Amino acid sequence: MGHLVAPSMLSANFGNLQSDVELVNNSNADWFHLDIMDGVFVPNISFGIPIIKAIKAIAKKPLDVHLMIVQPERYIREFKNAGADILTIHYEASTHLHRSISEIKNEGMKAGVVLNPHTPVNVLEDIISDLDLVLIMSVNPGFGGQMFIQNTYNKISKLKDLITKTNSKALIEIDGGVTLENASMLVNRGADILVAGNTVFRSPNPISIIQKLKQA
Ligand code: DX5
Ligand code: ZN
Repeated sequence: MGHLVAPSMLSANFGNLQSDVELVNNSNADWFHLDIMDGVFVPNISFGIPIIKAIKAIAKKPLDVHLMIVQPERYIREFKNAGADILTIHYEASTHLHRSISEIKNEGMKAGVVLNPHTPVNVLEDIISDLDLVLIMSVNPGFGGQMFIQNTYNKISKLKDLITKTNSKALIEIDGGVTLENASMLVNRGADILVAGNTVFRSPNPISIIQKLKQA
């Protein structure tokens, strides 16, 4: 399987969301990446359930919903009902991670865990075989358009080792500061999914940027 590309709608035009959803529909992108921020877990508030539902109504590709909220377990069913196909929750926000991952799967979604830049990969040792994906934050979560953190490359290698050693099927997703310059290095290290916000939507030709990210 080649790698997947998931444009982050955080950088889309909220005044004309429909046109950016259609743009992604008509591109080579694989998933929609939706960033949910509560102003508590991260110092920013983005959007919530009604916007996910509005996107779901016109999206022709799976919704990859990245929860940057405290106590994400309170809302698993709501996000399923809103249209999430993949739900990722932060390791740092989850006291009973195993239970929450099981609940996400029981709701029929793919389940992922997100690691902040300071959180080591080895904390996933005892849950990696239950995960569909691991999202490594390559910036501190909260905002689009930040600079890529170089230590991400080491983390991808460590995660790849852990996945191989445990025979896990988890995919590796990278989120934050992904550009045309670093995309192929990330894929070569073992990234399966690239999230990109500003690189896609701040470009005059997002469709061709998505195509280039696919070819990385
Ligand atoms: C950051 C979000 C990212 C963000 C990425 O907290 O999780 O998904 O939208 O934006 P870029 O690609 O611009 O760094
Ligand atoms: Zn994200």
